[in-house]
Parts: sequence; C-alpha cells; structure tokens
Amino acid sequence: MAFSSGESAAAGGATLPSAPRLTASEAGLLVAILRDHCGLSIPAENRSFLELRLGRRLRNLGLTSFSPYIALLLGAEGATERQFLAESLVTHTTSFFRERAHFDWLNDEGLPALAQQGTGRISDLVVWSAACSTGQELWTAAILLDRACRGPLGRLRWTVVGTDLSRSALRRAQGATYSEEEIAGLPEDWRSDYLLRSSRPVGGRHVFRIIPELRRRAQFHQINLLDPGRMPGITADIIFLRNVLIYFDLPDQGRVIHQLCTRLRRGGYLLTGHSESLVQPPPGLVPVQPSIYRKD
Ligand SMILES: C[S@@+](CC[C@H](N)C(=O)[O-])C[C@H]1O[C@@H](n2cnc3c(N)ncnc32)[C@H](O)[C@@H]1O
Repeated sequence: MAFSSGESAAAGGATLPSAPRLTASEAGLLVAILRDHCGLSIPAENRSFLELRLGRRLRNLGLTSFSPYIALLLGAEGATERQFLAESLVTHTTSFFRERAHFDWLNDEGLPALAQQGTGRISDLVVWSAACSTGQELWTAAILLDRACRGPLGRLRWTVVGTDLSRSALRRAQGATYSEEEIAGLPEDWRSDYLLRSSRPVGGRHVFRIIPELRRRAQFHQINLLDPGRMPGITADIIFLRNVLIYFDLPDQGRVIHQLCTRLRRGGYLLTGHSESLVQPPPGLVPVQPSIYRKD
C-alpha cells in the first residue's frame, strides 16, 4: 500500500520532527502577509490550521520555526513563496453541477426572468463566476445557457466570465479540459453535445474538452476579491460567489459582497454557497431563496 510521506514514517516507527509552532506574534505577521499579499483574511485564531497546513512546507524547506519562513515571505524572493503559500491554504474543490439546486433554479426561474426583462437582447447577458477555481461552475452555467437559448428562451447574447486568485486554477478553467471522473456528474446528452474526447489517451485515459463554440464565449481574469482597485470593469447579471467567503473574516466578507453588489446589474442575481447564506442581505438586494438574492 502506498502511504503519504508522513504516514509511512509514522507507520515505520520513525520519529517525525515535532511540527513547528506559531507564536502569537508570528501568527499576527502571517495573517497580515496573507491579507496584504495573498488575498486571504484568515483569522489569527486559526493558528492550528496554519501550523497544520504549513508544517510540511517548513520541513521541506528545512526550517524548524516560522520566523525564518516569515523572513523568506517578506524577502526579495518572497513573491514566489507567497503565491505558493496562498495555493497551499485554499482548496480548489469544485465540480460540474455543484449545489445543483442553483442550476435548477437558474434554468427554471433565473434565466427566464432575465430574458423576460429583455436581458441579452441588445447587449450580452453576463454570468460571472467570481471564484471559478478550475472552471466547472462557469462551464455548467455556459452549457445551461446554450441549452436554454436553443430551447425556451430563444436566441440571446451571452458571455461567461471566470475570475480567481489562483493562476494555476485559472489556467485549468481556461483550458477547459477534464478527466472522466470530473465529468461524471454531467448527463449523457450534455457530454455528447458539449465535450470533445481527446483523440489519444493522456496517461492511459481519455480527457474531455469543452467545445470551442462555448470556449469562445468565455473570458478569464486573475482577480483578488479583496483588492477591488485592481478589478477590471466587469458588470454582470448573475454572479456566482460560492464557497469563497470562508476565506475571509466578517468585515472582509461584507466588503467583498458590497463590491460585487455594485457590479451586479439591476434585476440581476447574486448566488452564494448554500452554507454561506447571508445573515442580512446587503442593501439593495432582496432574498429570493436561501443563498439567492436579486438586485432591485
Ligand atoms: C472552493 S473553490 C470554489 C469554487 C466554486 N466557486 C465552487 O463553489 O465550486 C474557492 C476558490 O476561491 C478562490 N479564492 C480564494 N481567495 C480568493 C480571493 N481573495 N480572490 C479571488 N478568489 C479567491 C480560490 O483560489 C479557490 O479557487
């Protein structure tokens, strides 16, 4: 049986060096670096989470405490390590049709309501996946839109925009190529209509790519949601802001939501993760269903 390095050492009885501990002042510094340079506002109370996630990185770098690591992050060569740090603290977990109720609602109510108010007739109906990770959320919305336009909605103009902090996740989103396991959640007719199978297996398995007709309708930008000053001028009719608020403390959550609300067009919808329903809808938004809000 294969073990990860930590497990095999433990199983073999070898003594692991004790995990480096973060002092309160180091935790404060790390949190400030994460906030100011990495776009993550992880509360300083989450010290054990940081120790756990970063312990292995420190060991790999041969460091036995956090203070030289913090010096490395702040040093001349720190940018690469800061990117690595951000990547190691976030998860890119996503899937086609994740939290399916949102897509059912979009298909049955959201898109028809937007079409009825004329959205997509003169200018594009824009769907923005604001923390798109590797793209499955955005491509699910794109397929849904294409199908709706071939069916009940009739021809509409539309674009999908994917943004994320992570360059590596964005590259995958833009490449739009997925493994057999990753497309398992897609119905058979969606696969045959919207995915092209690789002509040759890659690593012994075929991979599947979203068709060019949909890829042409997508734009991608690297965006730090905590840094509105550097956001391109995106405005949208539907904003997916799902499973990303967990990376922000409460004040930053409020700021991010406020910022995105200003970019939501009137009559448009904001969708948050199902476990991230807002206690208080932001001013100007009315709740439609749990985790779905409309801008009036
Ligand atoms: C768990 S994924 C969510 C993917 C998708 N929205 C979903 O619900 O399936 C969280 C994503 O948020 C991104 N993220 C974290 N902090 C961010 C920030 N400050 N600005 C933009 N994206 C951020 C991460 O890079 C990651 O890809």
